[in-house]
Amino acid sequence: MEKKIFSGVQPTGNLHLGNYLGAIQNFVSFQNQENTKCIYCVVDLHAVTIKQDPSELKNNIRETTATFIASGLNHEKSILFKQSSIAAHSECSWLLGCYTKMGWLNRMTQFKEKVGKDKERASIGLYIYPVLMASDILLYDTTHVPVGEDQKQHLELTRDIAQKFNQEYNKKNFFTIPEPIIQNEFARIMSLKDGKKKMSKSELTDLSRINLNDTRDQISNKIKKAKTDSLPIPSDRKNLKNRPEAENLLSIFSSLTNQSMQKTLNQFEGKNFSEFKTSLSEIIIEKISPISDEIEKLRNDHSFIDKVLSDGKEKAEKISSKKVAKLKEIIGF
Ligand code: TYM
Repeated sequence: MEKKIFSGVQPTGNLHLGNYLGAIQNFVSFQNQENTKCIYCVVDLHAVTIKQDPSELKNNIRETTATFIASGLNHEKSILFKQSSIAAHSECSWLLGCYTKMGWLNRMTQFKEKVGKDKERASIGLYIYPVLMASDILLYDTTHVPVGEDQKQHLELTRDIAQKFNQEYNKKNFFTIPEPIIQNEFARIMSLKDGKKKMSKSELTDLSRINLNDTRDQISNKIKKAKTDSLPIPSDRKNLKNRPEAENLLSIFSSLTNQSMQKTLNQFEGKNFSEFKTSLSEIIIEKISPISDEIEKLRNDHSFIDKVLSDGKEKAEKISSKKVAKLKEIIGF
């Protein structure tokens, strides 16, 4: 059976190593598989759930598209488009919101984490964000969704919404029930400053993350300053249990070299972190710098980036406008 892949990334500032290892790297490998159609979306409607400066948002949409391409996505093999260019996403989101229980949304941990105690002042957009994400996925009959661990709950919700709709209208196969594709071992890349927090665009200090557009010097400086401990590297993963920063750096190395954690531990057993950090910087630079060089080249080529997005829009719209029309017909419009 043909696989249909859909995933999205928010254009909210520089993408980082967590986005790359948790998601974008997988986007590229799906693109290169046979019998697989891939759609990757710059989810700019999701981005406005927090305050955005208009000209910065415009830049970030192009920058995220450039990062997709620089990371190896090919706009002729995959569909690359921006969410706000297709009305079906917003329309479907409204409709699906009518089949989503508040109780389901109240369970979403990402919303709870983002708003903290200040729930009354959070926007409705932030609250119903997962319904828009479900619409993105369901409009394209997606079979598989490559994402990082933090999106797992949103995928479960998507499945619940799809099943509820199919049942309610007795249309067993109208919405395809999508499978999340989450890397087992390294699905959550953590902050370089706190191994208990995920690497994120929103953490204040830039030293907490490797951005995909960092220079070689910035990368080695950030790795030098990354938090570790004074113990040597153990031979067994069990001994990393209460050492989240150490575990994170070793995970990043393993993921970038495409090897198991055990192999990395065998390679560095008994060594101290200052020695390991040199190898880690080298591998990050080897993998990430070609991407940042390419982003740099593409960044100012607005006409190319805009053309990629408008071609993508045309292709994606053909699929999603049909789906939303059928959806409306089922509902009775
Ligand atoms: P976003 O923009 O926050 O992140 C994009 C992708 O990067 C992954 N990711 C990470 N993976 C590992 N470690 C980390 N520290 C890390 N930080 C981010 C995310 O899991 C994600 O896969 N809601 C989504 C965007 C979205 C979407 C969709 C995804 C909208 N519609 C439809 C899939 C399908 C988000 O905010 O991702």
